[in-house]
Amino acid sequence: MFDDVAERYDVMNEILSMGQTRRWRKIVVDALGATRGQRVLDLAAGTGASSEPYADAGIGVVACDFSHGMLRVGKRRRPDIDFVAGDATNLPFADNSFDSSTISFGLRNVGEPKKALAEMLRVTKPGGRLVVAEFSHPGWAPFRTVYTEYLMRALPPVATKLSSNPSAYVYLAESIRAWPAQNRLAAWIEEAGWESCRYRNLSGGIVAVHRATKLQAQESAS
Ligand SMILES: C[S@@+](CC[C@H](N)C(=O)[O-])C[C@H]1O[C@@H](n2cnc3c(N)ncnc32)[C@H](O)[C@@H]1O
Repeated sequence: MFDDVAERYDVMNEILSMGQTRRWRKIVVDALGATRGQRVLDLAAGTGASSEPYADAGIGVVACDFSHGMLRVGKRRRPDIDFVAGDATNLPFADNSFDSSTISFGLRNVGEPKKALAEMLRVTKPGGRLVVAEFSHPGWAPFRTVYTEYLMRALPPVATKLSSNPSAYVYLAESIRAWPAQNRLAAWIEEAGWESCRYRNLSGGIVAVHRATKLQAQESAS
């Protein structure tokens, strides 16, 4: 599915999020707090739009994804970024090999998200951080109703006009509705072995940014 939407993926993001993605991405980068010279894993990086801010700041980012179509578009757009083909549930990286790990709008798409969280823990150094940005659930009921109407009624027809694969956007709406709420995702993150998970809602909870840490003393088992 991602191979099919790769060419127009970035422009569709901008349109369907009504220009919010840039602001959300900046908050994600700040939450990760990576510094120049560090090595960051951006998992489910797609075309690398979520990886770009790190590369632009001189941070060594590895953009990993399993869609060759998305990776191809990314490599063409940003040849300076290190794109690596890999499955989130079986990462092709050594234990403790990244200073921090992040995943933007990708965890919901992974077949076994808890396994991906455990893999991210394995490849992150002790003391390193995790940041997950994902669509979530607005807390204020009237806004939640309006937003759900947008997702289920307005988004599919817009996508039908603009996208090369409209059914991908029906999947998008349905997968957002089925995704766990903020507290439950925080519990998943801690169950995977991450510590002190906290989250912040963006745009009224349309997006949630979860942050957690790998214990200093925690050694990866494998
Ligand atoms: C919505 S895109 C997000 C791309 C990018 N992070 C962004 O913020 O624009 C989700 C990505 O997750 C990738 N993906 C889904 N399941 C995956 C898996 N098991 N392993 C690696 N990537 C996966 C898809 O190929 C797709 O590129």
